[in-house]
Amino acid sequence: MENELLLTLVICRLIILIPGLPIDPMDLLGVDGKLSVDPNNVEPASLDFGLLTRSQPLAVFHPNSAQDVAQLVKAAYTSNRWLPVSARGHGHSIKGQAQTKNGVVIQMSRSKEVGMLDSVRKYPPQPRVWSRERYMDVWGGELWIDVLNSSLEYGLAPKSWTDYLYLSVGGTLSNAGISGQTFNHGPQISNVHELDVVIGKGELLTCSENQNPELFHAVLGGLGQFGIITRARISLEPAPQRVRWIRVLYSDFSAFTGDQEHLISLHAQPGCQKFDYVEGFVIVDEGLVNNWRSSFFSPPNPVKISSFVATGGVLYCLEIAKNYHETTAETIDQEVESLLKKLNFISTSVFATDLLYMDFLDRVHKSELNLRSKGLWEVPHPWLNLFIPKSKIAEFDKGVFKGILGNRTSGPILIYPMNKDKWEQRSSVMMPDEGVFYLVAFLRSVSDNGEETQSLEYLTDQNRQILRYCDEAGINVKQYLPHYTMQQEWMDHFGSKWDWFCEMKREFDPKHILATGQQIFTPNLSSSSNMAS
Ligand SMILES: Cc1cc2nc3c(=O)[nH]c(=O)nc-3n(C[C@H](O)[C@H](O)[C@H](O)COP(=O)(O)OP(=O)(O)OC[C@H]3O[C@@H](n4cnc5c(N)ncnc54)[C@H](O)[C@@H]3O)c2cc1C
Ligand SMILES: *[C@@H]1O[C@H](CO)[C@@H](O)[C@H](O)[C@H]1NC(C)=O
Ligand SMILES: *[C@@H]1O[C@H](CO)[C@@H](O)[C@H](O)[C@H]1NC(C)=O
Ligand SMILES: *[C@@H]1O[C@H](CO)[C@@H](O)[C@H](O)[C@H]1NC(C)=O
Repeated sequence: MENELLLTLVICRLIILIPGLPIDPMDLLGVDGKLSVDPNNVEPASLDFGLLTRSQPLAVFHPNSAQDVAQLVKAAYTSNRWLPVSARGHGHSIKGQAQTKNGVVIQMSRSKEVGMLDSVRKYPPQPRVWSRERYMDVWGGELWIDVLNSSLEYGLAPKSWTDYLYLSVGGTLSNAGISGQTFNHGPQISNVHELDVVIGKGELLTCSENQNPELFHAVLGGLGQFGIITRARISLEPAPQRVRWIRVLYSDFSAFTGDQEHLISLHAQPGCQKFDYVEGFVIVDEGLVNNWRSSFFSPPNPVKISSFVATGGVLYCLEIAKNYHETTAETIDQEVESLLKKLNFISTSVFATDLLYMDFLDRVHKSELNLRSKGLWEVPHPWLNLFIPKSKIAEFDKGVFKGILGNRTSGPILIYPMNKDKWEQRSSVMMPDEGVFYLVAFLRSVSDNGEETQSLEYLTDQNRQILRYCDEAGINVKQYLPHYTMQQEWMDHFGSKWDWFCEMKREFDPKHILATGQQIFTPNLSSSSNMAS
């Protein structure tokens, strides 16, 4: 009988029948979004940026409002069969975190669904800027590029970013959202005043430090486990106009990390001159062949990286930026120079460029377009992102950058430190137990060019070796954008927060229907009567 359950939706004069979808059609008759089973909608929702896993949902839902999301989740929650529901932002996960098998994917970003006339399509609420209060309200599926665009109209901008802006607000807030500003402003989850969240029971709740604080903290970095973010209130600052963007090189790792740690310590000294952005990357590949940011080094900065290092050596590039206003353009040279004076890089290796703030923030998109044009964007991405305690970073360098990696990386390797006191300890995100910790990001792309070192097997195995090395060397890393498949591994990941995490799950998503692609919880079937089939 169950397979004959039909969902009937009358929307835009279309009637869609979905065999096997266990929702009472009456529950959804008022839903104003659109549920689609068109393969042109279902296929993209079955995949993500990683291109490593594939799970096909029964249908894709395009909501126009938080109420739409609430109604769909409510219908799934009250369904007499277990029906998973996953929010999908921009699908830029690596390992199927936004996918769901035999459930419904809620497509949160504004992407156009197929087969819908523009004249009848409604869209989620547009960003709304509160200039005086210096914050803005945005739809949970909004992409950061659009958030930036809207805020700039008011001369304002969010403070904390990711390197790449074609990610959704709900997606990055479910992880942390980090970049070169994090040492100073904290991750994106530290720059949110308030959220609207549809919890796993289908209720729409507003939460903040003062209102439903447990839900607020659980959702931030919560890997989509407790609710679907439909609105975020994001903190703003006056937008800088221009950016001086600088790269300098090191062959000595301790000089490199010493300088990075010095630069991020300046946040604690109010009024003191500092860079606004501190990142860095590791160069083991001759000529940055695979580095998608290599365009920085092309003319007017022609340079042969190899002239700075003996063959087979490892180089480290510190990347820093200072924001400024055209009104202070006269002093920027001086300020940058006095900051650089205190650093210990290879003195002949200063590369500087100057650009609009918007172009700086959107820099990775240029590389995306370049890679796309060569067919190198839509390829498998076996990425590995680790938080590493400061006390172990030198050991990690010896064992991994100068050891396991060899001389090919198949993509950029980012490395930069952050201050833990800028992170909310009560959120769901896990960090190492030290006041300063590093992000090390292995952003690999698989290539079918026949080189063994760029094959999926080789790169996946290398990721495993790196994790095993950390384990054996007693380096207590935490995965960022974590991926585990066994509950024991999740328990280890969350450590002493695990019990609290489970308690929040019981409270906000008791049937375990949300974000099942994270593979943290198994279905809670205890309240269903007819599970036997
Ligand atoms: C090219 C590239 C560059 C990146 N750069 C950075 C970077 O600089 N810094 C950084 O921190 N991260 C970075 N990331 C990682 C990125 O932040 C995460 O992959 C993030 O999850 C992607 O956002 P998304 O909107 O595509 O999420 P999705 O992949 O769609 O979803 C991720 C998870 O969040 C859940 N989710 C999605 N929307 C919501 C919502 N509204 N409410 C609740 N849960 C939701 C999903 O169910 C899923 O579990 C990068 C990723 C890529 C591909
Ligand atoms: C924002 O985007 C719109 C539409 O693409 C464009 O016309 C406008 O100039 C952009 N605003 C800014 C500040 O870039
Ligand atoms: C890279 O490493 C491989 C295997 O260790 C070695 O054969 C090769 O010579 C190295 N290439 C360079 C340029 O160092
Ligand atoms: C499973 O669901 C039942 C009924 O909704 C609930 O009482 C119970 O607490 C849930 N268990 C967990 C572990 O969430």
